[in-house]
Formats: sequence, structure tokens, C-alpha cells
Amino acid sequence: MCGIVGYVGKSPVVSTVLDSLRRLEYRGYDSAGIAVFNGHGIQVRKRTGKLKELAASLQHQPLEGRLAVGHTRWATHGEPTELNAHPHTDCRGELALVHNGIIENYAQLKASLLARGHRFRSQTDTEVIIHLVEEYAKRLPLPVAFRRTLQDLRGSYAVCLLAASDPKRLYGARCGSPLVVGLGRGETFLASDVPAVLARTRKVLYLNDQEAVEISAEGARVTTLEGKPVARKPSLVAWDVASAQKDGHAHFMLKEIHEQPATIEQTLTGRLGRAQITFDRRTNAFLKELSRAERLILIGCGTAYHAGLVGEYMLEEVAKIPVDVDVASEFRYRGPMLDRNTTVVAITQSGETADTLAGVKLAKEQGAKVLAICNVMGSSIARQADAVLYTHAGPEIAVASTKAYTSQLTALCLLTLSLGKLRGAIPAAAWRRYLAGLQEVPELVRRALRVEPAVKRAAQRYASARDFYYLGRRYNYPSALEGALKLKEICPLIHAEGYAAGEMKHGPISLIRRGWPVVFLATESPVYDKVASNIEEVRARKGECIVIASEGDRNIRRHADALIFVPRTEELFSPIVNAVPLQLFAYHVARANRCDIDQPPNLAKSVTVE
Ligand code: AGP
Repeated sequence: MCGIVGYVGKSPVVSTVLDSLRRLEYRGYDSAGIAVFNGHGIQVRKRTGKLKELAASLQHQPLEGRLAVGHTRWATHGEPTELNAHPHTDCRGELALVHNGIIENYAQLKASLLARGHRFRSQTDTEVIIHLVEEYAKRLPLPVAFRRTLQDLRGSYAVCLLAASDPKRLYGARCGSPLVVGLGRGETFLASDVPAVLARTRKVLYLNDQEAVEISAEGARVTTLEGKPVARKPSLVAWDVASAQKDGHAHFMLKEIHEQPATIEQTLTGRLGRAQITFDRRTNAFLKELSRAERLILIGCGTAYHAGLVGEYMLEEVAKIPVDVDVASEFRYRGPMLDRNTTVVAITQSGETADTLAGVKLAKEQGAKVLAICNVMGSSIARQADAVLYTHAGPEIAVASTKAYTSQLTALCLLTLSLGKLRGAIPAAAWRRYLAGLQEVPELVRRALRVEPAVKRAAQRYASARDFYYLGRRYNYPSALEGALKLKEICPLIHAEGYAAGEMKHGPISLIRRGWPVVFLATESPVYDKVASNIEEVRARKGECIVIASEGDRNIRRHADALIFVPRTEELFSPIVNAVPLQLFAYHVARANRCDIDQPPNLAKSVTVE
């Protein structure tokens, strides 16, 4: 969601902040702005739409200065207009602030500030923060006023404050929304996410909730909201700047789809051996305890939830552990019954998704253990969990999750197999077969990527359709849900729905008419024949069947209007391989429809509000 960048250093501040904001564009936004201290006062420039609008305005009428804060806004309170865009300033224009999150008690705070004579210009919840700082700063030194303000806020925030009275420093804080400090040579950044600073430094400080930070060109000082110093060691980020660039691909999404053989390999590296699966000492100990759990609850949102649904099939069938799967936003409000014998597995690419984070907190409050399957080191969920299986997929920039999803599935395979082994649920021959099969997965995904020309042809053939169904059974059912999500996410012109193929007859089939495209996942499985019958049911109603089938399946040809073959694998691993044509299909349909693939309208990469 919103992107924050604050910069203090010797480089030209406007271009530096704009460059960092560009690297956060993937988060999704609808307006952008910057505030610069020019040695005398604060100047603000905001524009609706994309960063290029702001950049064009700054080129036409430049701003110059010594330090700056920038922002890309994803509207929550108030439409995406210039007035509502950040930074927001106090009544006198001497303070400027950018914010990510939602201030839940803004209405009460606003009423009391209006009563004290403050003048509001926007409809945002954010504006109360800057007026509160102004109010407290009448009687307190600025850093104290800033921290005092934060204590009045309910909800979530990451903020960055620029004050004309203190032109060598910026102030930041976080609670429920991400904020990192980038420590460069003679320059310091505050940013919503690591890719914003990677071009300048890999040395970062992660803030915890309820912590504040003051940054200057020389470094950073972290404190509690009460002002008590906090010792925090910097971490060295393993990602480099190249991993957050398009590398000659037309879109980040396409680049990330093609990275999958390597990213899956990275998820397996150091863990999958010829005869065993091991993790670091701490995780091994955690998994040993976990193998005695009576029940697992997998939670996540969107694509991560779909990974959880695949995990349910894997863990119940292979590791013989009872599993529930919940959409995190429902889990946190349904009053789940948790105890010491339950482990909650939180699946998340970003580690910052508000609902998943709330689910993790709830689980811990009720005494359950939490394992995170997460891509971002140092993220909120990774730090709250009792143990973390990092997916090591590298930065995922496109809003539509692809490589993070297949790495989540790979981590779930590792988890399933090691728990199954610890529980004595996997016979020796099956164990050897599974391990050998998992070793092969990166190569199978590489081969699956070769189907791109066939997928592209199918995508172009059906690109003008406006409704799609995706159907599958067993492991292919969550794959169908994920395929439909990919398409509707990046191609907002299209309605796409995933169903369990067996559910078709219970309602959705009523809509099938001539030419209605249905993507069938019909790879090798114990329910293959049933899926073949479902395909016939659609064809009998003149629907068009785009079938994804296992290489060498001659029988399927007569059932398909368009046919895409993927390499054969154990059913357990098939969701990883089958994800590839689904991702490519969504990508090429969206491309044929000229959609904004990496930044679809209304969507954000990291959903840090409820
Ligand atoms: C995936 O394509 C979506 N962008 C979205 O559903 C995403 O998976 C969801 O918001 C969860 O994000 P997380 O993995 O960072 O928690």
C-alpha cells in the first residue's frame, strides 16, 4: 500500500526520493507527493496519478533542498485528489508528514483539534497526526511532541516527519505498518520496504511496533515512544539491486514467472538432501515439537491462502495431521478455539499483511505456537512467529504473486515431508520417491516454462472473453482458485471464478453457453476420469475448454479446444508445476488487453490495512 521515503544526505534530494519511490511503485498507489526543506521553509508538491506526473511537474518547476519526504498514496479516507495526497502540513506549513496505515480514532482527534482552532484541508485520517504534533510542539520539544502524538493514535501507522525547525533530521515511527531505516555512507533513508534503498545500501535497521527513530546523515537513533533508547543492530540484506529490477523483461510479473526454477531451488537449498530434509537447529527443534501437534491451522490472504489450501491436501494426506485453513481476515474474527496443542502456520510473502499479522497475534495470545512461511526477513510476521521457514524467493515486485507462491508451495512440501517423516507417516519407499521427486521440481518448472508459446496462443485466442471459469479437483482445486485470481487481478476487465470441478453441477454450470471459456486442470491424479467427465459436461453446453494436462496424455486431446501440456510429477508437487501455465495465461490475456500488469488498479502489493 502507501510507500514512504525519507532522505537525509548529500545527494540531490528530489531525484533521490523520486528514485526510491519508483522502487516502491509495486505497492500500488493512486497519487504521489513530496515535501522538501529548502533552507528557509518547506515546499510541497503533489499530483494525482502515477509518479511520472509528479516527476514531470518537478522537472517543469524544480524544488531543491537538503532533506525531503516523499509518498505514494493508496486512498483509504478521501478520494485520490491532490488535497488528500501526502505529505500533509500543519496550519503554518512548518511541519510535513507522510503516513501509511489507518488512524481509527481520527474523528475524535479531529473534533478536538478543530475546537482548538486547527484548520484542516483534506478528508484524510492522516492530517490529524500533523496537527497533533503542531499542538504538542507548542509546549514540548519537537522529538517529544512527535512521540507524544503517537501515543494518542489508535490504529496502524508508519510515519515520517519533516520539520523546518530541525533541518538536519527526519523523524519516523511504526505501529502495524512497515518502516525500515537504510544506513548509507553519509546518507540515511526511511522507507516502507527494502527495495527503496537497495540501490544505495544493503545495511538496514528494522523497527518494531511502538518504536520511533530519528535519522540524520550520520545515522539513526531508535527509541521507545517514551524516548528510552533502544539498541538495534543493523542487518545486511541478502538481496541486491539487480534482483529488484526488470532485467530486460517487459514486466516484473514476467520476470518473476521466469525466475521460478531458480527461486524454487533457493527454497530447497540447504534443506533438501538426498536422504533427508533438515533446517537450521532452531527450526529442526521447532518441527520436532510441531510433529506432536494435534492440529494445524493454516492462515493467509489471497494467493497465500491458496497456498494454504494446497498445504491442507499435502499435510493431511502425506503427513497425516488434521489441518484447517482459514482466510486470515475471517480467522481473526471467528473466535477460533486454540490451545497449546494447536500450531498456526501463517503464510505470507510480505510478512506485513494486516489480517495475517492480527491472526498471528491472536494465536499467540491464546497460547498457540506460530510458524511463519514468509519471504521477507525482518518483517513483522517473521519477527512475531516462534519459528520461520523463509521462502528465499527474492523481492517480488509485481502485485500479482507468482514466484512467492511457488516458493510457498515448495516450503509446504518440505514441511509436509519432514513432519510426515517425524510422525512415521511416510513409508521408506515413498520417502525416497518424494525426495527424488522434489529434487526434480526446479527442472520440471523450467520445462513447464517452455509451454509459453502455446499458452500465449491460447491466451490471444480467448483474450476478448469477459468471463472465465477455472476448474479442478483435489490438488488442482486450489490451483484453479489461484489461476482465476491471477487473471482477475491483473486483467480488471475480466471476471474469473475458480471452482471445485465437482461443484459445477451445483450451480455455476447454468451460466455456460457457447464460447464461454473454461480452464480445466486435468493433470494426472486419482480423479482424472472424473475431471474428463466434467470437461464433457461443459462441452455439451458449447463451452470452450482450455485444458492443462500431463505430457503424453493422448486421451485428453479429444476433450480440449486448446491444450497445454505440463511435465508429469507426483500429484503432491503438481500445484507448483501447474502454476506456471496459469500464470502465463493470465499474463498474456492481460497483455493482449493492454492492462497495467505490474500495478493493477485498486490493488496493493502489501495490504497493511484491514
Ligand atoms: C497475490 O497475487 C495478491 N497480490 C494477494 O492476494 C496477496 O497474495 C495477499 O495480499 C497476501 O499477501 P502476503 O503474501 O504478502 O501476505
